[in-house]
Amino acid sequence: MSGDRLVSALLARRQDQPPAVERIRLPAPGPGEVRVRIRAAGVCHSDLAMIDGTLAPSFPLVLGHEAAGVVTDVGPGTDRVSGGEHVVLNWSPACRTCWHCAAGRPWFCDTSGRPSSARGTTADGEALHVTLGLGALAEEIVVPRHAVIPVPAELPFEEAALLGCAVLTGVGAVRNTARVTAGESVVIIGLGGVGLSAVLAARDAGAGRIVAVDVAESKRGPAMAAGATDFLVSDGGLVRAVRSLTDGRGADHAFECVGRGKTIETAWRSVRRGGGVIVVGMGARDDLISLSALDVFHSGRVLRSSVYGAADPDRDVPLLARDVLAGTLDVSPLITHRISLAEAPSAVDRLVRGEGARSVVSFPD
Ligand SMILES: NC(=O)c1ccc[n+]([C@@H]2O[C@H](COP(=O)([O-])OP(=O)(O)OC[C@H]3O[C@@H](n4cnc5c(N)ncnc54)[C@H](O)[C@@H]3O)[C@@H](O)[C@H]2O)c1
Ligand SMILES: [Zn+2]
Ligand SMILES: [Zn+2]
Repeated sequence: MSGDRLVSALLARRQDQPPAVERIRLPAPGPGEVRVRIRAAGVCHSDLAMIDGTLAPSFPLVLGHEAAGVVTDVGPGTDRVSGGEHVVLNWSPACRTCWHCAAGRPWFCDTSGRPSSARGTTADGEALHVTLGLGALAEEIVVPRHAVIPVPAELPFEEAALLGCAVLTGVGAVRNTARVTAGESVVIIGLGGVGLSAVLAARDAGAGRIVAVDVAESKRGPAMAAGATDFLVSDGGLVRAVRSLTDGRGADHAFECVGRGKTIETAWRSVRRGGGVIVVGMGARDDLISLSALDVFHSGRVLRSSVYGAADPDRDVPLLARDVLAGTLDVSPLITHRISLAEAPSAVDRLVRGEGARSVVSFPD
């Protein structure tokens, strides 16, 4: 069809099958849509969640939802952006009219939250789906205009990409959900792109003790570079170790950035009476947590989640971009692998093994 384009993308054919780079066919942008040439895209654990059974999206599925690029075409009636603008992709664009949006909580927008939606076809004509309305591990994407956020052209694409998921999520969990203040103690469990972003924000908030926790000793370097005061390898003695670093009481806040019931329970036991546990990781439907009724009463702890950093991406991504450009937010500890699209399947394997933090795919100009 006229205006269709064949581009390369990271495609998962079905659950539990390794994704591969394939050619896909994208339509021309329709009314209210834009085409973006992707210049950098991160590989997030939520992409793995699409294929490891945590979520149940439709297949075949283009992976990727953390990206930045340049607008190349705008469909009719699209005044929000113009060709040539640099943009960050938003995987939860707000409708601005539903009850949650009107209440000032666009991260709960009624229109968001579906793991996949239909767009384009495979090269041989089979109907295709894209991750979180984007499918951003692709040379190009076509999205609704509300899914792009203009950012300054000086912002490097790799950093810009991370603002679209890991950084907005991890920083928002600390600033918007927990509202960490100077001198407070935090424990952050799981040090991928999301957990390391929480470490960055905790340092920025002036947290006194920032205890970073992972199962992999290799996360010590990135954690300390991001501003952790202590690093612990997660084992049976973790709760006691956190308590001994926090005057025997437990931390003021714990951030679970793994997505498992067991680590939520550990986070719960790591905070003091009256402290807060923020669930940032996205776990599976059948992964249950167990808390005693007496403990819930006696501990006075608060358990809450943080979806997309409880942020308004339209407002907060430009603010984060400004901080990166000003040098006050250094996201470089997050990036452990710079790769091409052809190498993206190996980045998914690294997520399975818990190796490295963000792998960022760069696309040539
Ligand atoms: N809240 C949101 O809106 C949102 C947004 C993006 C990602 N997420 C979720 O956040 C989580 C983290 O994402 P990511 O991309 O940083 O993941 P990642 O895979 O890069 O990092 C996870 C880290 O957790 C570590 N880990 C695994 N088991 C552990 C354990 N038992 N104890 C301590 N550490 C352990 C791994 O070694 C790894 O370093 C995922 O569940 C992802 O789906 C949520
Ligand atoms: Zn993500
Ligand atoms: Zn809404």
